[in-house]
Amino acid sequence: QKGGFKHFMLKEISEEDEALANTIYAHIFNDKINMDIDEELLKKTDKITIVACGTSYYAGLTSKYFFEELLSIPVNVEIASEFRYLKPIFTQNSIFIAISQSGETADTKESLNLAKSFGVKTISIVNVQESTIARLSDYVLYTLAGPEISVASTKAFVCQLAMLYLFALKIAQLKGIEIKPYLNELMSLPSILKTEFSRLNTEVEKIAKKYANVKNFMYLGRGLSYPLALEGALKLKEISYIHAEGYPAGELKHGPIALIDENTPTFVIAPNFEPLYSKTISNANEVKARNGKIILLSDKFSNIADDFVQVPNTSYFFSAFVNIVPLQLFAYHIANILGNDVDQPRNLAKSVTVE
Ligand code: F6R
Repeated sequence: QKGGFKHFMLKEISEEDEALANTIYAHIFNDKINMDIDEELLKKTDKITIVACGTSYYAGLTSKYFFEELLSIPVNVEIASEFRYLKPIFTQNSIFIAISQSGETADTKESLNLAKSFGVKTISIVNVQESTIARLSDYVLYTLAGPEISVASTKAFVCQLAMLYLFALKIAQLKGIEIKPYLNELMSLPSILKTEFSRLNTEVEKIAKKYANVKNFMYLGRGLSYPLALEGALKLKEISYIHAEGYPAGELKHGPIALIDENTPTFVIAPNFEPLYSKTISNANEVKARNGKIILLSDKFSNIADDFVQVPNTSYFFSAFVNIVPLQLFAYHIANILGNDVDQPRNLAKSVTVE
């Protein structure tokens, strides 16, 4: 059942290449993106509001950078339990997107109902077929991650992100924007993940063994690596029960740097993209000056690193798809070394149907 893996979580991380390929190829024919959504609606979209919880929220937040770069339209990403009690501001041609692996999350569902009450067209990105959120929305884009059994979301995150990128590319295509290079890069990701999984797994396990007794971790990133820092910290918290903070790297000096000492290692996520790479490395130097250890995730080495995970080279906007893998693996290996119930962490449920 676990395909030779000790836990579903590791099996599910190892399946990310296939999940991604299934999700992407269901929508691409002859370099065109097919989605069963009213094209007139997409062409005139002037604002996108994305609402979700937890890891699904971080997928939304990561995609914002790509949407805005590509389409130059504002994208608001909101936490569902906050959004549903706000007075939402929609424009005439707003689109609302709910993201949910389970399709049953109560706050996400109520946010969707709120958007509908304003007459806004709604799209859901869900993994579970025929789930409540899928049934309530005007259009559904199914991620084809397959069943996700482990409570911690891993392959669903990667598929949600891919679907959001595909959706952005669909709108771009309708607006006559050249999307071929982006589409090619998206299509190259499954084979990159397939090739790199076992190397990353072995390297990250070694690093996890070194840090398994640590009580506090910091995660830093800039640009779209910032939501990844949040997601990396969330994964570690939920399955290893270790305290972790995710921050935009530039915010460090505004407070959290006070937490840094020789016992608080910092994950630094720094894709080789200027000026973000140099700025992030300079933040890592500030950590180093306080005796903090640095675990660097990048496609470019820096001697600032105490431990370095070489991630495959991609362009900046696609770096999230490769950087997420070592972050998930690190949380997994720490939790496994600590002997935790990895697939069923304490206090958590796979589907949160209460508010
Ligand atoms: C974290 C995790 C949760 C879910 C959140 C939303 O690993 O699994 O944070 O992402 O509860 O769940 P869905 O996507 O089912 O709405």
